[in-house]
Amino acid sequence: MAEDLKLVTGSKSEKYENLLPQLFALCEGEEDQIANLANSAAALKEAFNWWWVGFYIVRGDELVLGPFQGPVACTRIKKGKGVCGSAWEQKKVLLVPDVEQFPGHIACSSASKSEIVVPLIKDGEVVAVLDVDSEFPDFFDATDALYLEKLQAFLVSTCF
Ligand code: SME
Repeated sequence: MAEDLKLVTGSKSEKYENLLPQLFALCEGEEDQIANLANSAAALKEAFNWWWVGFYIVRGDELVLGPFQGPVACTRIKKGKGVCGSAWEQKKVLLVPDVEQFPGHIACSSASKSEIVVPLIKDGEVVAVLDVDSEFPDFFDATDALYLEKLQAFLVSTCF
């Protein structure tokens, strides 16, 4: 397929329903992890214009910064630390409507007000996390969790 996205206006669900098949088509047939994670971050940024979107990849006992779109970010996060390290430890999606209320939140950017972190889980183990930050409070909800979970499942099956 051509490497450009056809984006739509509409509800959040409509945007995800439009975007994910195009992103899956872009990644299918490509097994390189960096390539697929990079295009995933870019596609999500292009479609939703979030403040920050990207991946942290499990390397030993740490998460290490992977492909992302947005301002520069911290490079290493320990298991159990911050929202990302907590999602890793708990093996579940964490929705944080107000980052200042999350104990141990790691403020890579003072502009970030709310966050969702979706762990990528292969054979019961977290292999990476998808982290999305918004400059607006209470920005993410169950719809984001639903579709980002579909994306994580696809990425795990494709490039982990
Ligand atoms: N806020 C995250 C750290 C990563 S940055 O937001 C990109 C956390 O608390 O884990």
